[in-house]
Amino acid sequence: MADATVDADVKGNGISRREFLYYIWGASLALYLAQFSGLLVWFLIPRFREGEFGGLIPFDIGNLPPINGEPVNVPDGRFWIVDLDTDQSNDRMYLAQDEANPIRGVAAVYKVCTHLGCIYAWIPANNRFECPCHGSKYRLDGRRIESPAPRTLDRFRVIAFDASGAEIARSEDVDGFFAPLELPPETASISVDTGDRKKGPADNLLCDFEGNCP
Ligand code: FES
Repeated sequence: MADATVDADVKGNGISRREFLYYIWGASLALYLAQFSGLLVWFLIPRFREGEFGGLIPFDIGNLPPINGEPVNVPDGRFWIVDLDTDQSNDRMYLAQDEANPIRGVAAVYKVCTHLGCIYAWIPANNRFECPCHGSKYRLDGRRIESPAPRTLDRFRVIAFDASGAEIARSEDVDGFFAPLELPPETASISVDTGDRKKGPADNLLCDFEGNCP
């Protein structure tokens, strides 16, 4: 009885019941696709803003650590800033036997351990980063000293700007990893691009298990 009424209604409007159901089905499909497309666009468009993790984090160069000094913690960016020069080596930073060239410049080291993702800390008494979870240790520049870390700490790209705000230098990608950036003399400010991270390489450990350190 109800079907007969619907049929009568839709026929009265010049369409059959079957056509009516096709229209409903088509409209539902179109609505679903529109929602899916909207979600896809929302997912693909970067939503990071300057100053937030995932975007550019400005860093005042007046707060740079001394050469081979203790790292500066940048909690909002989830990185440490280090300023390195192995030609001025000390207990924190030194050239290992398998490193031919000086390591020099500013680097932004990601604060997450490469083993299982714990947050490690700088231990001033030992002049190195140490992870509380399973004991991995890292040199000031993030190179692993002791495992179980499978590789050196990751780094973000550092970008230098002059007083006009023009970019004048950026960390170079050397064999898939960001080399420390030697700041040009005219550098007025730097930013760290936390959306641009390179995984650390699986270099040899700096210490073997007998504790022989370079
Ligand atoms: S998570 Fe750092 S040593 Fe395991």
